[in-house]
Amino acid sequence: PPLDSIINMHDFESVARQVITEKAWAYYSSASDDEITIRENRMAYQRVWFRPRILRDVTVVDWSTTILGHKSSLPVYISATALGKLGHPEGELCLTRAAANHGVIQMIATLASCSFDEIVDAAKPDQTLYLQLYVNKDREITRKYVQHAEKRGVKALFITVDAPQLGRREKDMRMKFVGDDGVAKVQEGQDGVKKDQGVARAISSFIDPSLSWKDIPWFKSITKMPIILKGIATAEDAILAYEAGVQGIVLSNHGGRQLDTARSGLEILVEVTAALRARGYFPDPKFEIFVDGGVRRASDVLKALALGAKAVGVGRPFLYAFCSYGQEGVEKAIQIFRDEFEMNMRLLGARTIDELVPEMVDASALSSH
Ligand code: FNR
Repeated sequence: PPLDSIINMHDFESVARQVITEKAWAYYSSASDDEITIRENRMAYQRVWFRPRILRDVTVVDWSTTILGHKSSLPVYISATALGKLGHPEGELCLTRAAANHGVIQMIATLASCSFDEIVDAAKPDQTLYLQLYVNKDREITRKYVQHAEKRGVKALFITVDAPQLGRREKDMRMKFVGDDGVAKVQEGQDGVKKDQGVARAISSFIDPSLSWKDIPWFKSITKMPIILKGIATAEDAILAYEAGVQGIVLSNHGGRQLDTARSGLEILVEVTAALRARGYFPDPKFEIFVDGGVRRASDVLKALALGAKAVGVGRPFLYAFCSYGQEGVEKAIQIFRDEFEMNMRLLGARTIDELVPEMVDASALSSH
């Protein structure tokens, strides 16, 4: 179908399903075990209702913000999703070029199919890029990778902490990894690749399951980039993260791909802000809280922001957008978000991101409320 016919994020998913290979669809769409968490990611947003305010002169509304001090035209960033070339020959470059044209921030995946340098080379000089990090068992590889990224101008390091082992994504496991599925080179050591267990497992054997809180000072010693822990799921760990002196956390279940029946980021958000607030850790402009998983509408984003998130990560919708229509698809996805922000902020009575307050949502149906 022509790009004109796409009117929401769900449309990109249905087109992608038709145009990408069975293997790509299995890898991208799959979640772990019974896929309960991935469904819950959508459902949690549907349990939160708006409490809109009226008569506020919403002629001009502005949804731009800053993320870790960097301007962003949307309170949304492109979250890391691995292996873009499984779905489109230009892979992650589609994201980079679209993000450049629209002032959106992209998080580069350690397991991107395009090399790190190719992606940075495709970016505009003033474009903000973040890096998602899977920590290698060989810390020298990780140290060099992080320091190279910093030298190339990457602005923040998102260390993925919810994947000491990759989840069982059964749809994906039924597919064999054949090595050259257009998956170009994957950036880090791939020794011990197991080819009989799906794409995800084949590429992830270098990840170090021994990673612990004790490693955080080491990361701080090797980089000046702000460090954000991606994949926090409880108030307890949010407190530890704050006390470890990192600059932020992503409340996430990895798009439902790791521990099945883990809670949604939105559920976790309510618990985390309450616990941090009780200790005087929230709000703190030096510690930003992000949420991802299941965000498909600007209204979802507004709910997370009203409840205390600084910005929200979006994975599959941008991935499906470029699989279906390349860079143009990603630009369209950004445009759709923009249109939705304009309308939803007007109807909600919020003229700026700062006007999104907890009173604008009824989150009483979240169990952690
Ligand atoms: C991911 N995600 C992910 N996260 C990460 O830290 N490193 C990675 O390599 C990947 N790879 C990846 C591949 C694919 C195909 C998907 C769908 C997701 C998780 C991603 O960053 C983010 O947490 C979720 O995608 C958010 O959920 P939604 O927006 O996809 O629902």
